[in-house]
Amino acid sequence: MHTKTKYWTPADGDAGLNEAAAALAAGGVVAFPTETVYGLGADARSEAAAERIFAAKGRPSDNPLIVHLADAADVDALAAEVSPLERALMAAFWPGPLTLVLPVRPGAVAARVTAGLDTVAVRVPAHDIARRLIAAAGCPVAAPSANRSGRPSPTLASHVRDDLDGRIDGVLDGGPTGVGVESTVVRVLGGDVHILRPGGVTAEQLQAAAGEAARIVAPSAGGETAAGDGEAAASGSADAPGAASAMDAVGADAAPAAGAAGAPRSPGVKYAHYAPQGVMAIASGAPAAVRAAVQAAVDDARRRGEPAGVLCCDEHAGFYSADAVLALGPRAAPAAAAQALYAALRECDARGLRFIAAEAFPEEGIGAALMNRMRKAAGGRALPV
Ligand code: TXA
Ligand code: MG
Repeated sequence: MHTKTKYWTPADGDAGLNEAAAALAAGGVVAFPTETVYGLGADARSEAAAERIFAAKGRPSDNPLIVHLADAADVDALAAEVSPLERALMAAFWPGPLTLVLPVRPGAVAARVTAGLDTVAVRVPAHDIARRLIAAAGCPVAAPSANRSGRPSPTLASHVRDDLDGRIDGVLDGGPTGVGVESTVVRVLGGDVHILRPGGVTAEQLQAAAGEAARIVAPSAGGETAAGDGEAAASGSADAPGAASAMDAVGADAAPAAGAAGAPRSPGVKYAHYAPQGVMAIASGAPAAVRAAVQAAVDDARRRGEPAGVLCCDEHAGFYSADAVLALGPRAAPAAAAQALYAALRECDARGLRFIAAEAFPEEGIGAALMNRMRKAAGGRALPV
């Protein structure tokens, strides 16, 4: 596959945005910023365009895509039915980082997009460039994160270039994304809101918007029963990314695909998640004990001759001696760490780290999504503290 990839920068203004929209309307694949991560977009009604997304990413074909709309009013063209509770969630969080899995209106989107399921995942991104692009393209836009399968989601246009240059038609650069982790994916069933993938909208926010009568069903500790991060090559294959370092994985993706009885699920669960090229492990507990455990693990790795790094909160950065110390943000502000995580994981690979010890962050609010992604990157590995 070789395509000349065009890069539109903010300096290209409306002309760049309109060229990108024209490429989408013509069946092309174009990466664009959203408030969460960069997406790789294509016309959701076109089988051929959707197929180009799977080919560019190397994504397993049975993992469905999220459809992005410019306007919440357009949801009825895609969904066969929308319940009052689903409408309330849309009113509360759209535009924003919430994806709803809804019964699909037959024929509304390409079968490739839903991977043949009878549901479609939909969201309206809270990003001006994204919404203007979708509106100008004049079609619903299917878009997974714009990374090669098995890599962290891109939070900068340069991450997209690193993964997809020569494989897609263009990249619309809108600067760094805000939230830094993907949208929360939910399925409403019988008055319960099932979180299939934690993300930019927190469980606490969902509860407040859904009202006290609604039950918010969070994924069990260690991982979701369903959507997963949507990434990575097929599981089970010994040479899947991360497989070599996942021998002691205890994460959800290493478990059988069975979740809680009756819980909704999605194909993402079958896939091995992204892991950095180095082995990563997470330390949680009291700060002083965590610091000691992280430094001891780094020292062990370096004695084995492995370049070793640390992912930590700002407050602890000065404490460590390692080949790389990457501070993600203040310990009490998981939003900053969520924003920084994927770039830091890419940096670990760029620096050739073979071992990465990471400090756990508190799981309140968006900390739940942050720790979900960190545990996936670590293949569920915990450091003894
Ligand atoms: O923030 C985001 O959600 C980003 C930006 C670009 O919008 N997109 C994103 O897409 O993260 P992706 O493809 O990387 O992850 C989509 C997740 C996958 O885990 C997939 O299995 C799940 O959503 N999903 C999509 N359609 C589904 C469906 N019909 N039922 C259940 N899960 C679904
Ligand atoms: Mg993804």
